[in-house]
Amino acid sequence: MKICRTTAECRQTIATYRQAGETVGLVPTMGFLHAGHMTLVQSAKARADRVVVTIFVNPTQFGQAADLDSYPRDEARDLDMLRAAGVDLVLIPEVAEIYPEGDETIVETTRMANMLHGLVRPGHFRGVTTVVARLFNIVQPDLACFGEKDYQQLQVISRMTRDLAFPIDVIGVPTVREEDGLAMSSRNVRLTPEDRAAARVLSLSLDQAESWSNTPRTVEGLSAAIAKVINAEPRATLRGLDIVDAETLDEISGPLTTAAAIMISAEFGGILLIDQRVIEP
Ligand code: PAF
Repeated sequence: MKICRTTAECRQTIATYRQAGETVGLVPTMGFLHAGHMTLVQSAKARADRVVVTIFVNPTQFGQAADLDSYPRDEARDLDMLRAAGVDLVLIPEVAEIYPEGDETIVETTRMANMLHGLVRPGHFRGVTTVVARLFNIVQPDLACFGEKDYQQLQVISRMTRDLAFPIDVIGVPTVREEDGLAMSSRNVRLTPEDRAAARVLSLSLDQAESWSNTPRTVEGLSAAIAKVINAEPRATLRGLDIVDAETLDEISGPLTTAAAIMISAEFGGILLIDQRVIEP
């Protein structure tokens, strides 16, 4: 597994793949990898001859310097996991490599970045698209894999890729779940055993929404049914429940007529967890 710290080195290696006629799949990460990241790697491996992973804790997507400083890092462990998964190249750039001295270019999906989660994290999605556009230009992959769990991020990146005509397939990879349905997240280990048990209510509420057969299936009815399941769990505090058009993220109402994304966030003992599901009308 080749480890590169500069753009130049990374491009040189990728050029050798291209000369051999090989396709390249990219998995951008901020490191501190878990099973969810490894399914992104597996998806890229299944679709491309070579897999490139980037590890870069992107400063522009953090609101507060403190969050950036306290972001967990474990490069040696990450590299062991990536080596075991058969990754070909890992790019671990310094901040100045991605944001050169005096840089002034940003990339923003002006509408989608500033709704839903973007309202509580101003500037976050602008930071994500800015870094992903730069990584796309450095690696120039055929495809790139992102988790469906961060649903708004996936839609924002898909929009940016189309708008800027990057010749890259953006692949959404389904969320990996624990046995009881809880979406995998590095935050899960911070839950107390009681909160960990209670947190399964998130995926349960989505299961119920999906199988909810009242007709007509209205957005309001689904929303009330989900809220009822989550609110019945005393350890859960529902923080956000949005049912939006699955592609545009626009708010919808009334009977379901297009695919809808349900995005929920809830706190368990002060730990905020998110989950999502796309349901067909
Ligand atoms: O999902 C993430 O880990 C980050 O937002 C990403 C896509 C690597 C950009 O920094």
